[in-house]
Amino acid sequence: MDNTEIKTIQWFPGHMAKTRRMIKSNLPLVDAVVEILDARTPLSSRNPEMDIMTAGKPRMVLLNKCDVADEKSTQRWINRFRQLGITALPVDCKSGKGLKSFLPTLKNDVLKELMDKRKQNGMSGAAIRLMIVGIPNVGKSSFINKMAGSKRAKVEDRPGVTRTKQWVKLDNNVELLDMPGVLWPKFDDQTAALKLAFTGAIKDDILDIETLAMKLLLFLSENYPQSIAGRYKVTADEGDGGFELLEKVGRKRGMMISGGEINTERAAITVLDEFRSGKLGRITLELPAEE
Ligand code: G4P
Repeated sequence: MDNTEIKTIQWFPGHMAKTRRMIKSNLPLVDAVVEILDARTPLSSRNPEMDIMTAGKPRMVLLNKCDVADEKSTQRWINRFRQLGITALPVDCKSGKGLKSFLPTLKNDVLKELMDKRKQNGMSGAAIRLMIVGIPNVGKSSFINKMAGSKRAKVEDRPGVTRTKQWVKLDNNVELLDMPGVLWPKFDDQTAALKLAFTGAIKDDILDIETLAMKLLLFLSENYPQSIAGRYKVTADEGDGGFELLEKVGRKRGMMISGGEINTERAAITVLDEFRSGKLGRITLELPAEE
């Protein structure tokens, strides 16, 4: 991908430093760390310092939004994490799909050693405490709300309520530590930034919306041609760049402005919205490097 037009993103290192300190100081209070990633961008949606920040704690990865990710690619990511010694589970925290396996997998796999030890000591009923981490928009609140039920969602949604560190108790003696603060994704990686902009994880203003949609259309025409063929009846002809593809989408959708010109801005908004909501199909933006 050509990233020359992407503005350098401001990462607010001050916020990061504060969050890093909070994670470190709270780590002794928890039994494991649950890292939520976007299944469409498991690499780009990772905080690069997470390994260092949570070293020594059992960790589990949730590949969230698997409902809009390519199923085969999600399986490849799960295999890749397994190779790295990390248990990863595909979940959809919007509908709750996959969450039933979360606690059993955690207890029987990620925390097996601890659970066995507790059993030997007659402490099987002791609380399990988990720290929930992830970059903004990855689905942390959705996960916690689905796990905790509707009661908590109501409290959390009140505007003006200061978000401080807080424990959320689940019915089965599991406590989730919802980490406030901001954990940014990869620093200085503009390709990652582009993918996060495609998914809407970071704001559209890193690029103008038409350039963003053009880059997405190019990616789709190369990797998921059926997505734009199916939805817009658009196929790439030899020599088509992103702009030509965007114009084709606009034309097919009848998005014209006076003088017979195509409203490429409207077409761009449509493409991005429909990609993000899964209307273009289940699409993963990056694959594991080696397996
Ligand atoms: P955060 O706490 O990590 O910042 O993320 P949050 O739960 O607020 O989720 C961010 C957005 O991602 C929300 O969409 C949420 O609905 C959506 N989301 C979370 N989990 C999933 C999932 O498994 N699949 C899909 N497709 N989407 C998910 P939103 O547009 O901000 O709100 P809304 O669509 O819920 O109205």
